[in-house]
Amino acid sequence: MLPLSRCSLPTSSNPGPGPSLGFLLHVHTMICYVLWLAACCLLLLLYSVRFRSRISHGNGPRTYPLIGCLVSFYQNRWRLLDWYTEMLAASPTQTIVVDRLGARRTVVTANPVNVEHILKGNFGNYPKGKPFTDILGDLLGTGIFNVDGELWYAQRKLVSHEFSARALRDLEFAVLEDEARERLVPALGLAAARGDAVDMQDLLRRFSFDVICRVSLGVDPGCLDPALPAPRLAAAFDAAAGIIARRGAAPVAAVWKAKRALGVGSERMLREEIRVIHEAVMDLIRIRKKERGLQVNDADGRRSDLLSRMIECGYPDEMIRDMVISFIMAGRDTTSSALTWFFWLLTRHRDVEREVLREVTGGGGASHAAGGQGKMSVLHAALCETMRLYPPVAWDSKHAAAGDVLPDGTRVERGDRVTYFQYGMGRMESIWGANAADFSVQRWLSIGEDNAPPAAVAGVSPFKYPVFQAGPRTCLGKEMAFVQMKFVASTVLRRFEIVPVDEGRVPVFLPLMTAHMAGGLNVTVRRRGEPIAAAATPLDPSADPVL
Ligand code: HEM
Ligand SMILES: *[C@@H]1O[C@H](CO)[C@@H](O)[C@H](O)[C@H]1NC(C)=O
Repeated sequence: MLPLSRCSLPTSSNPGPGPSLGFLLHVHTMICYVLWLAACCLLLLLYSVRFRSRISHGNGPRTYPLIGCLVSFYQNRWRLLDWYTEMLAASPTQTIVVDRLGARRTVVTANPVNVEHILKGNFGNYPKGKPFTDILGDLLGTGIFNVDGELWYAQRKLVSHEFSARALRDLEFAVLEDEARERLVPALGLAAARGDAVDMQDLLRRFSFDVICRVSLGVDPGCLDPALPAPRLAAAFDAAAGIIARRGAAPVAAVWKAKRALGVGSERMLREEIRVIHEAVMDLIRIRKKERGLQVNDADGRRSDLLSRMIECGYPDEMIRDMVISFIMAGRDTTSSALTWFFWLLTRHRDVEREVLREVTGGGGASHAAGGQGKMSVLHAALCETMRLYPPVAWDSKHAAAGDVLPDGTRVERGDRVTYFQYGMGRMESIWGANAADFSVQRWLSIGEDNAPPAAVAGVSPFKYPVFQAGPRTCLGKEMAFVQMKFVASTVLRRFEIVPVDEGRVPVFLPLMTAHMAGGLNVTVRRRGEPIAAAATPLDPSADPVL
């Protein structure tokens, strides 16, 4: 994780169990903040001095005298992502080194050649590393998301096989249809009828939690069903993710480690939430095994969720538990984050909305008639463009196993944190041209100069656009994510028109473990008349363009 995350986490929501502890936590937070502020200034000072000395002609960040740094850091504290982006853009090779006394040296890059080197060329030298896996280890155990080396490779092979299986895609599709028809559309329909405001982000998060649970666990938590009580499992995931994010934000890892050892405060709560999650999943494994013993599911009724598949393969219970928890963590908030920004951007770009609508209702002419119904290249382009500006994973860090030199000449020392920065890369003019800041679906659709096919079809280099990471550890759920996002986008857009409650507001991008829209997206919805029957089959998941 990038050190700047420390400053962007909400600390006011610190839920202390009693007032005195709450107060202590508050003081603790303030002290941490002040320490962190001081460290940042020192770091910037050191950094700017070093930077100047290393690159003589550099148009790097201004040198900040001590007080100037304080002011500057303070001024930038709510826009740290953009501040980093500016520093990266100003660096001749779009790479900066954050070097401070007593802390891990961090290389942050937005340079595609470096990114390719880290994620592919010298992949073996850039594992997630212990500083990262420590933070998530209590929750994720040895699940794919949180291990390196052999442990990772074995799971990757196994899981990519399952992810490419037809049965899983069919299951996802069935779940999406059911969840949309039974819950999402009725919920929006009700809001439309009553004229109520709804928080689109909240709705989408519930939707994606239901979907990921049904696909990976084979059970329906019913998050989106108003008739069911709020599920404990979802709450446990939320609480655990929040506490773990704060672990990552702690100025010194020793603080949370000590709290964990003592079993106090947030660490005690975390332990409880993890217990809830682990027990729920273990129960499911036991029940599923019993069903199998009783042959509840014969050959025809065989379950194709990931948990059942792994039981069938005969893996140990704990390994199955850790794997499915990794899927839920990886797959729950990412698609909902992308979709939240997508819906908001379309309210800002009604012309794009019209284009997408034309495509998903089958008015797109040629591409539709030519059997390209499943392609939805405008929608695909709009989603890619959304995630370019608002990547669900804003940055991702590795830790160097050995010293190295990046292609741009940046020196990496053993143990350094090496971060590739999706958010900044999406905004680099060196990658996207002078209009990098504009929401332009067209950049994915126009035919290239030498008659190259459009990016949405041909794919842009994943090293320029590492929104799903790239190389051997590319997101396993990418295709599934596109299927889900397209399904939701077309289902909603065909039936409803969305209007933000506060139309003038420019929402804040909050890079928690997964990016969120701060405060959610409150909207009112209007029915678009009758749903259009022509495109009753919204998409054929197998016909998606490869990004
Ligand atoms: C728009 C949606 C999504 C985006 C932008 C996204 C992005 C990413 C990124 C950046 C990583 C690398 C993170 C890291 O290594 O720390 C990753 C890994 C992963 N993602 Fe996704 N993801 C999305 C949806 C999904 C979904 C729906 C699933 C389904 C279960 C999923 C499963 C995974 C898994 C299993 C990994 C770990 C792969 C490995 O370590 O080998 N993702 N994803
Ligand atoms: C959205 O509405 C809820 C409930 O009315 C409110 O608490 C929240 O602050 C609103 N969010 C924004 C960003 O306005």
